[in-house]
Amino acid sequence: MSSLASKSGPRYRHVAGDSEPYETIGVEKLTPIIGAEISGVDIGELVSDSRPNRQMDEIQRALAENLVIFFRDQRISSEQHLAFGRRFGELHIHPAAPHEGGDPALMRIYADKDSPRANGEGWHSDVSCDIEPPMGSILYIRQCPPDGGDTLFASMYAAYEALSDRMKAYLEGLYALHDGEPIYRGLYANYGVADRKDYPRAEHPVVRTHPVTGKKALFVNRGFTRHIIGIPRDESQAILAYLYQHMEDPLYQCRFRWSENAIAFWDNRCTQHRAMWDYWPHTRSGTRVTVKGERPV
Ligand code: SIN
Repeated sequence: MSSLASKSGPRYRHVAGDSEPYETIGVEKLTPIIGAEISGVDIGELVSDSRPNRQMDEIQRALAENLVIFFRDQRISSEQHLAFGRRFGELHIHPAAPHEGGDPALMRIYADKDSPRANGEGWHSDVSCDIEPPMGSILYIRQCPPDGGDTLFASMYAAYEALSDRMKAYLEGLYALHDGEPIYRGLYANYGVADRKDYPRAEHPVVRTHPVTGKKALFVNRGFTRHIIGIPRDESQAILAYLYQHMEDPLYQCRFRWSENAIAFWDNRCTQHRAMWDYWPHTRSGTRVTVKGERPV
C-alpha cells in the first residue's frame, strides 16, 4: 500500500464549482482538475471581428474553469495568432528568446536533431522573473514529431489546496526571489541571440491570489525561483524542495498530446508546465504568443 494511502479518502478532494452549460463552444475535460479541449471554434474567423462576443466570453470562462484549454485543427497565420492573443490583453515581449519573423511578440518554439535544448524542458511558469509575469501563453504547434513532444500542465490551485493547514500557515506572507539570469544567460546563443547586460528578477509572494477567480495558488517554480526571502538558506532549500516534489504529483496534472495545428492556452498565474523532449531526432516547431499579466499579490 502506498505511504500516501489513508483510511479517510484522498488527500486532495477536488470540488468543482457549479458551471453553467456552454452555448457557443464544446468543452471536454481532460481531468476533473485541469485541462479541457474546446471544440466549435474557428480562431481565424473569431479574430476577424474584434467586437466582444459570446464565444470569446465562453472561451475566457473555459480558461478560468479549466486553467489550460486546447484547440485542435486551427489553420491560422502569425497575424491571426497575434490577434487572438491581443483579444486577452497587451502582448508580452520575452526578455531573451528569439522571435519569428518581424514581430518580437511572436516567440519561436523549435527543436530538431541539431538543437542543444528544447523550450520549457523543466517545470516552470513563464517568465516568473518579470515584475509583472505573463497572464497566459498561447502556443501554436504547426509541426509535430511522429510521437512524443507532449506538454504536461499542473494546477497550482490544487497543489496549494492539498497542503496541510500548518504548511499553508507557514507559507502565508512569505516572498521568494525569481531570477532570469541563471536561466537566460547564453541560453539562445545557438540562435545567434546576444546576451543582455542583465535579466529580470523579482520578488513574488509564495502563494498568490488569482485576480479573476480569487483562488490561492502556489507561485514558486524550479525554473526561476532562487530562494524564499527572510528565512535561512538551508530552510528555504528544504521548503522549496518539498513544494516542488509536492506540486509535481501527477494528481494535479494533465498531459496534452499535440497534433499539427493545435493550440494550447494556459493561465500562467495558476499553472506550471513542462515540455517533453522525447522526440529527438525529429522536429517540433511552432510559435508562442504571451499575454501580459499583473504584479502577483
Ligand atoms: C514553453 O514553455 O512555452 C514551451 C512549451 C512547449 O513547447 O510545449
